[in-house]
Amino acid sequence: MQAKRNILVTSALPNANGPIHLGHLLEHIQTDIWVRFQNMMGNRCTYVCADDTHGTATMLKAEQLGITPETLIARVQQEHERDFSGFLVSHDQYYTTHSDENKVYSEQIYQRLKENDLIFTRDVEQLYDPEKKIFLADRFVIGGCPRCKTPGQYGDNCESCAATYDATELIDAKSVFSGVSPVLNNSAHYFFDLPKFSDMLRKWTSSGTLQTEVTNKLSEWLDTGLKPWDISRDAPYFGFLIPGTEDKYFYVWMDAPIGYMASFQHYCDKHDDLVFDDYWKTDSEYEVHHFIGKDIINFHALFWPAVLEGSRYRKPTRIHTHGFITVDGTKMSKSRGTFIKAETYLDHLDPEYLRYYYATKLNASTDDIDINLEDFVQRVNSDLVGKVVNIASRCAGFINKRFDNQLSNTIHAPKLWAESIASAGTIADYYEAGEYGKAVREITRLADNANQYIAKHEPWKLAKQDDQQQAVQDICTMGINLFKQIMLYLKPILPELAQKTEAFLGIQALTWKDSEGFLGPVKINAFSPLIQRMDAKIVDQMIEASKQKPDRESIANDTNEAANTVQAAESATNIEIGDFSKICLKVAKIIRAENVEGADKLLRLELDVGDHQRTVFSGIKSAYPANDLTGKLCVVVANLSPRKMRFGISEGMILAAGTGDEGIFLLSPDEGAKPGMLVS
Ligand code: 2FM
Ligand code: ZN
Repeated sequence: MQAKRNILVTSALPNANGPIHLGHLLEHIQTDIWVRFQNMMGNRCTYVCADDTHGTATMLKAEQLGITPETLIARVQQEHERDFSGFLVSHDQYYTTHSDENKVYSEQIYQRLKENDLIFTRDVEQLYDPEKKIFLADRFVIGGCPRCKTPGQYGDNCESCAATYDATELIDAKSVFSGVSPVLNNSAHYFFDLPKFSDMLRKWTSSGTLQTEVTNKLSEWLDTGLKPWDISRDAPYFGFLIPGTEDKYFYVWMDAPIGYMASFQHYCDKHDDLVFDDYWKTDSEYEVHHFIGKDIINFHALFWPAVLEGSRYRKPTRIHTHGFITVDGTKMSKSRGTFIKAETYLDHLDPEYLRYYYATKLNASTDDIDINLEDFVQRVNSDLVGKVVNIASRCAGFINKRFDNQLSNTIHAPKLWAESIASAGTIADYYEAGEYGKAVREITRLADNANQYIAKHEPWKLAKQDDQQQAVQDICTMGINLFKQIMLYLKPILPELAQKTEAFLGIQALTWKDSEGFLGPVKINAFSPLIQRMDAKIVDQMIEASKQKPDRESIANDTNEAANTVQAAESATNIEIGDFSKICLKVAKIIRAENVEGADKLLRLELDVGDHQRTVFSGIKSAYPANDLTGKLCVVVANLSPRKMRFGISEGMILAAGTGDEGIFLLSPDEGAKPGMLVS
């Protein structure tokens, strides 16, 4: 027998400035299945995660909401935990990177790196917003692409011609916060000397810790040569101060992976039988597995192992990388209603439908995974309900009604039974390797066999013959045992359905070794439907609800076409007069209005704001044909930072009433008002 393994597992830490959606769920369900499988195998598998709280985005979003970052991250963490538990994701610990433990480990690791001569400082010249008094990361600067001249591009690459460049090369660059032209400022940054680890990383990345395609991708980067990694950010920043400095903070990507350790430490402190060092010491035989998406490979497979090596900790045993998610073949989209939040899904559908469907699609490659909504309904109904659960419903009635719930002691189809036992090893290997789709296919094959067996013996016909009662009991006992076996194999994917099965059969929680146990002659319980068929109409309703519920709070909501229509939250908290006075409202005259190609809801408006003209994108197209607007007066939020949208930069927002369901009504000053007048 294989010795019990001690395994620590993590999923990437979700950002604390947005809701949990289908993309996060793919990863957390993938991880959760693996963890549940390991525990069923008798291994000690601990699953930790946390919210990734630090960085400029959290700071700005809190500022925008008029709350402290601490309040914001506490609220978001609660929502995230609620969503994950709604999907039966069994984190042993869900924590936060803004914790005492994380501060301690971040500082300790930094000190160790420093002692090992792996930290140095260097002056960095960076764009700075003199009005907001903040250094500008690339995504906070917009301007014209230096190559193709397309306006409204971010500071690192052009969405139109794919050129990459320095933010300083943008044409007529503007800060997204204040709209002013940024200036170049110097500041000292702290660097981690990553190139010193090139040889180690070359070996480590090809030592079986990564999927081959990931190794190949990394070797391209390694071939071009590693650069020192900038681990500091200047104040103001929401994060941990770098020891020995007064205004330098750890870059969020420095303390985020350390958050894995911190979360585990927090869990160990509550569990005497778990010892942090057993898992994290350099020569540990225990395992550490990270599940991540392919967009963050460099952080996990280059920076992280180097930081760990440089600070005398062990490196990960394996990094499991998955691809991106698409819905019906395209990127998730708020306007199409395919940006589906966990919360919206749970308002409509059973979480185990998604767990099952994801499992059918997951494999060990980093290829993208498509959710095809028709296929989703079909797979759940025809395979899970129609094949698997059907086995129990076909047999249970006879056992319940005719045999007083009593199973017989006869293995009526020994070959079939032996085959179903023999699959345990194959299915376990598939789970171990992350090949869940293959595991489900093998399990579905067993379900097909079981259904064929029942169909062949037709217990419903035999039941009518007095001398065939024993056969009916034996056949149905066999069917129920095959069902038990199938549910055992599906248990990592469908924990709730498995639990209902255990209750129906009156048995202890199934583990992998129970795959050899035949159930009988024992009494089972009355059967009640274990899972409903999925109604395609509900899926449509969920898509509609996702369209109607744009993420009002997202600060970087580029793709939300309706975002430039005012959407005051009904439950908005009170603000002080000082907060209100920050908003500069002005009368504007619409001098031109035109449709925006490719946008269902948006109009591009040219506004006369008195002393200048500006462009605003507004989601009012459904209520106002472009032609009707020319010459109309409206009210504009004049000091809203310019925002980059898919179609260009929006320089403000016009006010309108209504959410779209009951119509949209432009707010228009009475006759006599002039463009540029202040509204107060
Ligand atoms: O990409 C992200 O969403 C990050 N918050 C993931 C962090 S994973 C780990 F390093 F903390
Ligand atoms: Zn370009």
